[in-house]
Amino acid sequence: MPDLLELADQAARKAYAPYSKFQVGCALETAAGGLYTGCNVENASYGLTICAERNTIFQAVAAEGPQMKIARLAVVCIGHEFPPCGACRQVIAEFSLLSGSTEVIFLRAGQPITRSLAELLPETFAL
Ligand code: THU
Repeated sequence: MPDLLELADQAARKAYAPYSKFQVGCALETAAGGLYTGCNVENASYGLTICAERNTIFQAVAAEGPQMKIARLAVVCIGHEFPPCGACRQVIAEFSLLSGSTEVIFLRAGQPITRSLAELLPETFAL
């Protein structure tokens, strides 16, 4: 199984984060077995910033098409630790495995934490 945290850490080093200085990286494995990485890209017009997770998910859709499902996703920020933000959780939900069983991996006190998407975003909005 690929080390998604290590891939996310490598991706974080490519971040464009001159404003927040939060260099964030993401790596995900799709149900089809594809691997994708991405980083956050900020903008002088702050609201145009894209998080590492959504950047990565959109790449996976572009590569595999609209049926793409996320099996596992990891996020790493250099010098900080956090799970995906609320906006990214909603986008993960859009491409989650059934019943929110997609695994989301992040660090806490240097240790990997794995949560299902359903744990991170209960009672999810869907059309
Ligand atoms: N950021 C992410 O890339 N992912 C998250 O889940 C939270 C925040 C980025 C956005 C911005 O470039 C910086 O971190 C500070 O918010």
